[in-house]
Amino acid sequence: HVESDLDLEQTLYTEDQIRDRLREMAVRIESDYAGREILLVGVLKGAVMVMADLARAIDRHVEMDWMAISSYGSGTKSSGVVRILKDLDTDIAGRDVLIVEDIIDTGLTLSWLVANLRSRGPASVEIATLLRKPDALQMEVDVKYVGFDIPNAFVVGYGLDYSERYRNLRCIGTLAEHVYT
Ligand code: PRP
Ligand code: MN
Ligand code: MG
Repeated sequence: HVESDLDLEQTLYTEDQIRDRLREMAVRIESDYAGREILLVGVLKGAVMVMADLARAIDRHVEMDWMAISSYGSGTKSSGVVRILKDLDTDIAGRDVLIVEDIIDTGLTLSWLVANLRSRGPASVEIATLLRKPDALQMEVDVKYVGFDIPNAFVVGYGLDYSERYRNLRCIGTLAEHVYT
């Protein structure tokens, strides 16, 4: 059915809570990057909402670029095999890169991406993620800006999908069990 709010078990973060937290992250980013130009790198597709709102909360010049990477080829969601589907348009040599993500789950995507971007000679590579699941982490990732640490539950909304749905929800919530059983 189309009444997607009914597919949520529980709202974790409302639109207002997300906006307030992104504003706090933006304030830290503004002061940490004083005097430097930031290149925000969003990871398609989940990071689209975070990128749009975080970028607008940052009160200084930023550039934005995007990467699309496949989640570990086929099979299980933990082989660690990542493929670039769309690379950056930007040469990041000497640039201050801030990766923007919606969620760090196992950490496999980001640990691969950070290593990949570091090999291109940037001045710096840091990570800003709205959500992180500490209990699901398989790979240690050094994350500078985290919105919320959440329990290891299936969450959707605000860019996060289940089978490509729910990305357009304004809030973030846990998916009701009847949806995936
Ligand atoms: C999701 C999410 C992160 C990644 C996190 O993306 O947006 O990019 O998984 O998982 P990990 O920490 O276990 O690697 P997904 O591969 O579902 O693609 P999407 O962004 O297009 O939904
Ligand atoms: Mn993603
Ligand atoms: Mg996804």
